[in-house]
Amino acid sequence: MEVLILPRPADVGAYVADLFAERIQRNPGIVLGVATGSSPLATYRALANRKERESLQVEDVQCFALDEYVGLPAHHPGSYATFVESEITVPLGLNPANIHVPDGAATNLDQACLDYEQAISDHGGIDLQILGIGANGHIGFNEPTSSLSSRTRIKALSSQTREDNARFFEAPDAVPTHCITQGLGTIMDVHEIVLVAQGTHKAAAVAAAVEGPVAGLCPASILQFHPRITFVLDEEAASNLSLRDYYRSVQTAKSSLGKGSA
Ligand code: GLP
Repeated sequence: MEVLILPRPADVGAYVADLFAERIQRNPGIVLGVATGSSPLATYRALANRKERESLQVEDVQCFALDEYVGLPAHHPGSYATFVESEITVPLGLNPANIHVPDGAATNLDQACLDYEQAISDHGGIDLQILGIGANGHIGFNEPTSSLSSRTRIKALSSQTREDNARFFEAPDAVPTHCITQGLGTIMDVHEIVLVAQGTHKAAAVAAAVEGPVAGLCPASILQFHPRITFVLDEEAASNLSLRDYYRSVQTAKSSLGKGSA
C-alpha cells in the first residue's frame, strides 16, 4: 500500500492523470475502471488536457464504470451513464463502443449484474481502476456492511449516500433508492488501484480505510489487502491519518531514488 499526500486538490488530479497517461502509453488496449462523483473529475480533466497537447492513443482503451442507479431513464442527467459520457468518453475522445456501464434500466436486473461480471471477464479483467470514497467509507456503491467478497449486484443506498448525492438531482427524493454496483470482490480483482480523495469531509473515511481495521463497516478498508493500491490524497483528506509523517518520509525517499511518480 502506498499513501501519497499532495498539497492541493489539483495536484491529486495532475498526478493521477500522469499515471493514467503513462499506463495508456504502455498498453494502448488497457481496460480502465472508472469512478463517478466529484473526486476523479480533476483527473479526467487533466487527462483530457494531456490528450489535447500530446498524441495519446485512446481508440482501443476500454472503460468499465463501477456502478449505476437503478430505474433512471436513459440519458437522465443524474445517471452515471450520462456522467461517463460527458466527463470521460467525450472529453477523452474514447470510442463509445468501448464504454461499459451497468444497465440500471434492465428488466432483469440480476441478469444485468451477471452480464456485467461476464463482460469484465471477457475483456480479460480491469487493469487500472480509479476509485473515490464516500464519506461513510463506501467504494463504488458498496455501502457499510457490504460483503467483503461481493460481486456485481443490486444494493440499497444508505440515507447518507442519498443525501450526499442529492446535489446531482432536482430534489433529494429524486435520488434513486437502489443501484447496481461492482462488488468488493470484483474491485479486488483489478490489477492496480488508485483511490483519490480531497477535502476534510473525506478525512475520517480515509483514515478508517488506510489505518482502521479491515471491516465491512468501512468497505474501503478491504483495499489494505490489495497488492497494488495507492491512496492519492490532498492535505485535507490526509489530515486524520496518524502516520502522516511516515507516509511523507517514504514519499521523499522514493522521490530521491527517482521512483516518486508513475
Ligand atoms: C458516489 C459513487 C462513488 C464515489 C463516491 C464519492 O456515490 N458511487 O463511486 O466515489 O460516491 O463521491 P464524490 O467523489 O462526489 O465525493
